[in-house]
Amino acid sequence: MVKIACIGAGYVGGPTMAMIALKCPEIEVVVLDINEDRIAAWNSDSLPIYEPGLDEVVQEARGRNLFFSTDVTKHVSEADIIFVSVNTPTKTSGIGAGKAADLSYWESAARMIAQCCKGPAFKIVVEKSTVPVKTAEAISKVLRTNGDSSVHFEILSNPEFLAEGTAVSDLTAPDRVLIGGKEDADGQRAVKALADVYAHWVPRAQILTTNLWSAELAKLTANAMLAQRISSVNSISALCEETGADVSEVARSIGMDSRIGSKFLNASVGFGGSCFQKDILNLVYICETQGLQKVADYWRMVIDINDYQKQRYVERVIGGMFNTVSNKKIAVLGFAFKKDTGDTRETPAIDVCRGLIADGAKLFVYDPKVEAQHVHYELSAAKFSWDHPKAPYASASRLSSVSVVKDPYEACDGAHAICVLTEWDEFKQLDFPRLYASMTKPAFIFDGRNILDHAALREMGFVVYALGKPLDPFLRKD
Ligand code: NAD
Ligand code: UDX
Repeated sequence: MVKIACIGAGYVGGPTMAMIALKCPEIEVVVLDINEDRIAAWNSDSLPIYEPGLDEVVQEARGRNLFFSTDVTKHVSEADIIFVSVNTPTKTSGIGAGKAADLSYWESAARMIAQCCKGPAFKIVVEKSTVPVKTAEAISKVLRTNGDSSVHFEILSNPEFLAEGTAVSDLTAPDRVLIGGKEDADGQRAVKALADVYAHWVPRAQILTTNLWSAELAKLTANAMLAQRISSVNSISALCEETGADVSEVARSIGMDSRIGSKFLNASVGFGGSCFQKDILNLVYICETQGLQKVADYWRMVIDINDYQKQRYVERVIGGMFNTVSNKKIAVLGFAFKKDTGDTRETPAIDVCRGLIADGAKLFVYDPKVEAQHVHYELSAAKFSWDHPKAPYASASRLSSVSVVKDPYEACDGAHAICVLTEWDEFKQLDFPRLYASMTKPAFIFDGRNILDHAALREMGFVVYALGKPLDPFLRKD
């Protein structure tokens, strides 16, 4: 029987291992973490992350062949395949700060693997974390020089492509599973062993094998290309507002070109999440270190446009409200970086809220899945500190200009404006006449996700800003 251990019980380690356990009942899967609270939550009825469908998957497999534990040494030493799914944050200090990936969590996991594995044995170490290209080479050196010489460590790159909010369906039916390995006999033996695990439920034709470096680089490239589509459409949204074109119509028109495709063309207040910005910065840094400044500059612009889009939105809100939001109540609907997750890492709401707070606004935040302490933490934490897991959400100081409420009607009561920052479905069902009646006039809505019925809202009397759409005459400067 194959035994699998996974170091890192986060957004990736937890769901991916739960899916492997579900689909491979004869394989024992143990998910490990140094964070005791996280492991306790995985073993409870209240999982540490919100992900539609995940409770059911975990309930079926947990205790059967899926286990969550803090006993890293025991389970790593027993495992045949060891996934490493630890965080790989952006460095906050030293060489490459603000760009390069901090591999210290990865390296300490590798050193621990080396110390606790005893031979003779053939151990497969799988890079599940997103890492800079060539990381496998460094990890291999750490394992070789610190481990028992009778243990053969074979490293594979198996990047994860799941998106939060749809993790269970993405894992159930992935577009592809990518496995990179060395081209020699040991490398191919390891690739086959991992491919056999996924083949329990993924068609062989969708299990793609490449060399190590292609797999590592493909992950960074996929995220950069996805983010680039959003920045491209967001840049066009600015032009639409100036010209009277409608970004949704432009997106639909270009998306029907099969060479372009219709997905990932929704203009937004900006992309967020733990991956896009971090991985592009990582790519930029790698290009710079290879002397490819033009390539680095090209990808850097994807982030610059994203920052511009968030700033542009803040300027629309303040400009629309007669150039001042000082002491005005503003309802913020949605703080998560996208719908169907409680994750706030790099959410565009951070920069938007900070921009409004800087101008004196009083924010009332409502999000169906985000806890108050996360909002306060995100709005007060230093850049990139969120991914360095000592960050104590609970101890974040409360910001006096921000209230987090549990009811959208309370958030909007007496407010001058509503800012929609996450595309939660429930926002479409709100009783807008009731909201309008309770708000200060003129009542503004700034739809940063284009999810509302703008014509109906205008009928009710709202002044509506819809991203990338012809401007409401009330908001025009001329
Ligand atoms: P996360 O922060 O949610 O989880 C990482 C976990 O690793 C934490 O719980 C941390 O305590 C644990 N950890 C760190 N060092 C450890 C050690 N030495 N021993 C045991 N546990 C340790 O991160 P995540 O979102 O799951 O991301 C993990 C990796 O996967 C990152 O490289 C990320 O870029 C990549 N990734 C993330 C997503 C996503 O949607 N979140 C998708 C694809 C890839
Ligand atoms: C992303 C990648 O999609 C996934 O493959 C990778 O494994 C991890 O990073 P994730 O960040 O979880 O996944 O969510 P995603 O759906 O990609 O959305 C990222 C951000 O882009 C969100 O803030 C979302 O709202 C925004 N977005 C997405 C847009 O603004 N417009 C779009 O058309 C799509």
